[in-house]
Amino acid sequence: ATTLGAAAEQTGRYYGTAVAAGKLNDSTYVNILNREFDMVTAENEMKWDATEPNRGQFTYTNGDRILNHALNNGKRVRGHALLWYQQQPGWAQNLGGSDLRNAMMNHVTQVATHYRGKIYAWDVVNEAFADGSSGGRRDSNLQRTGNDWIEAAFRAARAADPAAKLCYNDYNTDGVNAKSTGIYNMVRDFKARGVPIDCVGFQSHLTNSAPSDYQANLQRFADLGVDVQITELDISGSNQANAYAAVTRACLAVARCTGITVWGIRDSDSWRTGQNPLLFDSSGNKKAAYTSVLNALNAG
Ligand code: G3I
Repeated sequence: ATTLGAAAEQTGRYYGTAVAAGKLNDSTYVNILNREFDMVTAENEMKWDATEPNRGQFTYTNGDRILNHALNNGKRVRGHALLWYQQQPGWAQNLGGSDLRNAMMNHVTQVATHYRGKIYAWDVVNEAFADGSSGGRRDSNLQRTGNDWIEAAFRAARAADPAAKLCYNDYNTDGVNAKSTGIYNMVRDFKARGVPIDCVGFQSHLTNSAPSDYQANLQRFADLGVDVQITELDISGSNQANAYAAVTRACLAVARCTGITVWGIRDSDSWRTGQNPLLFDSSGNKKAAYTSVLNALNAG
């Protein structure tokens, strides 16, 4: 196959990208998007601050723009993200206790209901675990509403959109470490108690290489009975092309790794300013990393 999406589809997987609504009138950007990718994530437009800027007032204009562009062009959509300690509207940052818990669950219900039936997978909860060696939860206003907030969010999302796969998504969880093991234990517990969770997202913001146990880490989560997805891939550094190939091969080697999403199209679209971590240069030309991914997908 000659495009990332078509090459991934040969093994039943997808190849996606983050999309910014403000770039949908950039023809270079849109041409690459339409040609190469078969899954789309809104980079910012479905987050809490974007969708509920005032309590109880929902705005879906930019999220819908991305969703409709994707669906009209035969692509699927990953929803990102219903609850996150960052990019909360100011009003939510100032709430706590049961008032915040009610606002959180209402947000999950409203947004998942708006997009009901149109989302392949939702990042229901993003980045709720602490960095470092604790293996525990990250402190946040969300966490301070009670340790059961994550399972409550997953149950609310399932009720609102039963067809969407429900994912937990995080970073620095790409190898076996204390943080990924904390999440592993949560997923195992959720599966044991019937809390609805279908997938785990590994952001994979990397420099030069993936951890040596990257594939083994994906596999141990898959063995719990969830899909795994690489959700925000970008790789900086001189070993970029090799590292992209290694990540691709790791996903292909795990039966329940259902797809890969890169976090932007051209280097100039990346949040990692000046690091050139993506598959297309700022002019939209394919980089060595692109060829390396395409070849790996075609070999799979
Ligand atoms: O919307 C305002 C706009 O009105 C203003 O003119 C402009 C001026 O700087 O800022 C705009 O907001 C920015 C927004 O991106 C949209 O461009 C924010 O300042 C900026 O902080 C925000 O950054 C996003 C970041 O999440 C926020 O934490 C990045 O684009 C986005 O790539 C990044 O994505 C996250 C994932 O959601 C979760 N995982 C990590 C990943 C990288 O941080």
